[in-house]
Amino acid sequence: VPTEFSYRVADLSQSGFGRMEIELAEHEMPGLMAIREEYADTKPLTGARITGSLHMTVQTAVLIETLVALGAEVRWASCNVFSTQDHAAAAVVVGPGGTEDAPRGVPVFAWKGETLQEYWWAAEQALTWPDGHGPNMLLDDGGDATMLVHKGMEFEKRGEVPDSSTAESAEYAVVLDLLRASLAADPTKWTTVVGGILGVTEETTTGVHRLYQMASAGALAFPAINVNDSVTKSKFDNKYGCRHSLIDGINRATDVLIGGKVAVVCGYGDVGKGCAESLRGQGARVIVVEVDPICALQAAMDGFQVATLEDVAGTGDVFVTATGNVDVIGVDILTRMKHQAIVGNIGHFDNEIDMAGLSRVPGVRKVTIKPQVDKWVFANGVAIIVLSEGRLLNLGNATGHPSFVMSNSFANQTIAQIELFTKTAQYPIGVYTLPKHLDEKVARLHLDALGAKLSRLTQRQADYLGVSADGPYKPEHYRY
Ligand code: NAI
Repeated sequence: VPTEFSYRVADLSQSGFGRMEIELAEHEMPGLMAIREEYADTKPLTGARITGSLHMTVQTAVLIETLVALGAEVRWASCNVFSTQDHAAAAVVVGPGGTEDAPRGVPVFAWKGETLQEYWWAAEQALTWPDGHGPNMLLDDGGDATMLVHKGMEFEKRGEVPDSSTAESAEYAVVLDLLRASLAADPTKWTTVVGGILGVTEETTTGVHRLYQMASAGALAFPAINVNDSVTKSKFDNKYGCRHSLIDGINRATDVLIGGKVAVVCGYGDVGKGCAESLRGQGARVIVVEVDPICALQAAMDGFQVATLEDVAGTGDVFVTATGNVDVIGVDILTRMKHQAIVGNIGHFDNEIDMAGLSRVPGVRKVTIKPQVDKWVFANGVAIIVLSEGRLLNLGNATGHPSFVMSNSFANQTIAQIELFTKTAQYPIGVYTLPKHLDEKVARLHLDALGAKLSRLTQRQADYLGVSADGPYKPEHYRY
């Protein structure tokens, strides 16, 4: 392996399996493949050095190889310790034309089951290019790469040494230790990295939420495209993707019959809507917990009981958090659950279920049934089953969303990278969504594969509605 091509994955010998699954996925990802074809000659990402921090799955492999086909150099880490599919990571490192002995693909730093130290080490590796440069583009999911470079830069600017003894969480202590070590080795590392970044494209609700908070605090150092709020992302991946992968995760983890059981879904946003529908599809009686009256009313009108967690803690057989919020299921609720209730989270971070509090319950014992499935036994003998240690269960216990829906998300990601990289001057620091005609383009790219035939407005109809017959078809405020 050439010294400038370092990487770390679990096992390169899985690359053949990974390549075969990537080839199957390509057929199911018509949006990404159409974009590859459209830009095969012009290669608009030539000169882009993209650091990606996003679940290293088979579908992500197709995204990475699309970015490379468009001219980019890419380095990658996962955005979750459990979400990597090791065969996909191996195949991306080996590359389409490489071999295990002479890999020619993309440097990936990701494997399933990283420790927190390894996770943040991998993030730094993905952000550190061999020539001493950093990336000039970020592609983020949940905002960890964006957070890391900003925190590093802020410590440098304040001339302050990061001190992990002051950290508010065990994970943040790891981040501070990493920043301290990196700044000791190179005191201007992070201002240099941030200075080179033209922008970030962000995949998910939680990461987008962090970006808007940074922008309103005046702390954002480069422009961002909010990919999540493309309609063809959040109204598809978050909803139909979770409708598929939530149930997949629960089944692979427990194989418990869902039909007839009581399932409690916390949060009825895009993700919660998909989760509730899939549990109902299996025959569960679904109860929704919400804080927003609009979403609560939607749940009620969709036929779900709406209740508080306090009222259903002892009734539910399956509990799923889908809020993107903290402290949603606390120890008071966990300790009131039925014997062998299943508890899992599908929101981005592991702070929705109070795992730290659970480990401190007097007399509690953790028994690992298999990787990412733990039985927590309380002193009175009652046990609950917690999936993926409270991290997103659809990627920890299963393989995340299937290819077709990710083709929509990743077509948006690719278009957003092209926009920011080639039209940098049009995007002063701020958070943007893609223009509607590009959102409609992503949808259009997926219709043929489903045999869907679109109708066309007549000129009289278009004039009557005040739109172009070629779109966009809806005003910005339309909510779909
Ligand atoms: P959203 O904002 O559409 O929905 C979240 C809902 O949770 C809102 O309706 C909100 O009112 C509700 N909520 C907030 N606090 C609550 C509480 N304490 N109790 C009950 N309900 C509460 O967000 P979206 O798009 O549904 O995303 C949710 C989370 O899932 C985010 O962290 C997002 O990043 C993540 N996500 C995960 C995916 C996966 O594959 N695992 C895919 C897409 C998003």
